[in-house]
Amino acid sequence: MNKKSLNIEYLEYDSVNDMSGEEVGLINETDTNLQNAYAPYSKFKVSAVCKMENGIVVKGTNQENGAYPSGLCAERVAIFAAKSQFPNQKVEKIVITTEETTLLPVSPCGACRQVLIEYELLQNQPIELIMKSGESKVWKFKSVKDILPFAFDGEFLK
Ligand code: THU
Repeated sequence: MNKKSLNIEYLEYDSVNDMSGEEVGLINETDTNLQNAYAPYSKFKVSAVCKMENGIVVKGTNQENGAYPSGLCAERVAIFAAKSQFPNQKVEKIVITTEETTLLPVSPCGACRQVLIEYELLQNQPIELIMKSGESKVWKFKSVKDILPFAFDGEFLK
């Protein structure tokens, strides 16, 4: 029997102002996009922005539904839109924000992590994640693998 452990590194910024100009711009775009969320049931608006390798930015917000499970999180709305419009473009980063000031930055649900890692594995290049809730600190992860260790990989099916 071997005892094993994992160490996950990520960056925590006290303020958006400590980040690069490009990152500040993307976070502002993500925050502005919160107005497009459709969250009449939870009232918890989430916005996600994918920056593609060609510089194009594709935005998404959570879209809820009276039949609750039919709704979709902002991250999946954004990355599905990005990959259906630009299937050959790699996703460089995804920025996720909510207007709610929760103690911790908003973090993708398990189903979204699984969807994000599908594209990360497909493009063979990490997708960087940036997360912020209201005026919370900002978290930056280098790869989806860091938030979904031991992920199921479609390769297992082959
Ligand atoms: N939600 C997201 O859009 N992304 C997350 O990372 C967490 C949760 C949405 C789903 C639902 O519309 C609302 O937030 C409350 O769970």
